[in-house]
Amino acid sequence: MRLTDTVALVTGGTAGLGLATARLLLNSGAKVVITGRTEATGKAAAEELGPGAAFVAGDVADEEDIERALNVAAELGSLRTVVCCAGVPHTKRMSGSRAMSLADFCAVIQTNLIGTFNTVRLAAARIIDQPLVEEDRGVIVTTSSIAAWDGQSGQAAYASSKAAVAGMTLPLARELAEYQIRVVNVAPGLFDTELFAAVPERVRHLLVERIPHPPRMGVADEFASFVGHVIGNGMLNGESIRLDGALRMQHVTRDRASAPTRQGSD
Ligand SMILES: NC(=O)c1ccc[n+]([C@@H]2O[C@H](COP(=O)([O-])OP(=O)(O)OC[C@H]3O[C@@H](n4cnc5c(N)ncnc54)[C@H](O)[C@@H]3O)[C@@H](O)[C@H]2O)c1
Repeated sequence: MRLTDTVALVTGGTAGLGLATARLLLNSGAKVVITGRTEATGKAAAEELGPGAAFVAGDVADEEDIERALNVAAELGSLRTVVCCAGVPHTKRMSGSRAMSLADFCAVIQTNLIGTFNTVRLAAARIIDQPLVEEDRGVIVTTSSIAAWDGQSGQAAYASSKAAVAGMTLPLARELAEYQIRVVNVAPGLFDTELFAAVPERVRHLLVERIPHPPRMGVADEFASFVGHVIGNGMLNGESIRLDGALRMQHVTRDRASAPTRQGSD
């Protein structure tokens, strides 16, 4: 699908993977609405992106907030692309003295899973009304994580939220095929964003040395360029694709797990 003269919505587009994706979509000729939780960061990001970018603050799991973002998109033109990047990391064991609470678990599910589904369902309802151009009416890209399959001890909430996002890909693609809308899920490995900002160099090194090739963290532009390819390649649909340098996270012993790897195996 070509992006020229179309509009894209990027949730979590104020930082990291989402911001890089918004930049790529703009450079490919689309107008872009970015969303995020923090007003100041979002405004600064939209300003940095320049003309053609708009920011809407809000919670990805809130119906009204996403409808507001979609209304802004409608003012800009024809919404064709949705990229769901909004998400939160979480690592906390289920057992022991500092166990996660049920509220902790629900909060992660609320943002990562409910937020993604909320965006997809409301955006798809808008895309369905757009006229068909060539073979696609639109493309929806969601973001899970390799933790969907390789979740570490302490990642029960995060991994299950991401596994559910990956799991909804095929049923949504099958349902939306009726309207010529493709749905693809990207599962990143380790990417150098704010998410990793607090992780000490020693721990980063431990994580990176497990990546077969290339033995480094991904950069956000590599994620964005892959999303650009997904949008442009009409045969990609109904699939979850890992973007991880062949990394398969193994079980780590309690000793290593107790290192400060809050976002370590994201
Ligand atoms: N960076 C990685 O290595 C990595 C690996 C696997 C998966 N992911 C996933 O990719 C996505 C983007 O990650 P990132 O590294 O760019 O993170 P980031 O922290 O740099 O950016 C996260 C974005 O999500 C937004 N956000 C968070 N909670 C929100 C909410 N409730 N409502 C609206 N917006 C919300 C933030 O405002 C921000 O714009 C996330 O879903 C993350 O789980 C990242």
